[in-house]
Amino acid sequence: MTATVIDGKAFAARVRAQVAAHVARLRDEHGLVPGLAVVLVGEDPASQVYVRNKGTQTVEAGMQSFEYRLPAETSEADLLALIARLNTDPAVHGILVQLPLPAHLDSDLVINAIDPAKDVDGFHISNVGLLGTGQKAMVPCTPLGCLMMLRDHHGSLAGLNAVVVGRSNIVGKPMVQLLLGDSCTVTIAHSRTKDLGAVCRGADILVAAVGRPEMITGDMIRPGATVIDVGINRVERNGRMCLVGDVDHATAAAVAGAITPVPGGVGPMTIACLLANTLTACCRANGLPEPEGLTA
Ligand code: GUN
Repeated sequence: MTATVIDGKAFAARVRAQVAAHVARLRDEHGLVPGLAVVLVGEDPASQVYVRNKGTQTVEAGMQSFEYRLPAETSEADLLALIARLNTDPAVHGILVQLPLPAHLDSDLVINAIDPAKDVDGFHISNVGLLGTGQKAMVPCTPLGCLMMLRDHHGSLAGLNAVVVGRSNIVGKPMVQLLLGDSCTVTIAHSRTKDLGAVCRGADILVAAVGRPEMITGDMIRPGATVIDVGINRVERNGRMCLVGDVDHATAAAVAGAITPVPGGVGPMTIACLLANTLTACCRANGLPEPEGLTA
């Protein structure tokens, strides 16, 4: 079998178009413009690229983008004061503090200072608790993107065996909650799991988010399974740097029924879901119906 390759780039473009259409209606019918504030502390080059892309795509979707670039030596008090100001700014519906923060800043303290209703990353402890108890939450963008792709491919996920490899707070754990919410039977595995291959071979849906280049190989995949590769690892191959996932794409694609590529799979969905979350936050803040198909 050769797997269907799930085109995340095209899917993300569709999500962004859906967001933009809804944003246009909000503006025309309610005079509302969703606003996203992104806060970057320091000069990490990768973070600068992410923040620039977020700003560009926010504006392209018809929303307002507010960017705050603060020096690396910014004090915790100054950062918390900015967050307090954004929490009460009615033009700001979503707040994202780009991670990682410089070492002298306490990320948990900073993230938990964001108004949970504006926490478009879904990292605030209140949103983690709401998601874990099946209540309406802001949901982390990357697992939300994975869920959208899985729903699109399968229709209903009910009763399917899902294995999530990776237990991070940003991807693995929320992914488990989302799959449970869609009535999958979920196993969470990680780098220390005994006989990882046997566990993975039980999966109808395999989500790899372990952060180890090409750790999941074709022999660990059930024929016909759907494989979502969240990994983005920079490795050297034949003297050149390239991006690979947590899945060995060549051997996996020979066995799987469907698979996401790296790059061009899950990656583009993350910012698309950030825009969707900003729109959702704006709708909730104004007591309006949420956009269909863009939430968990
Ligand atoms: N850094 C890398 N990915 C992310 C993300 O999804 N959200 C935030 N806030 N920072 C990140």
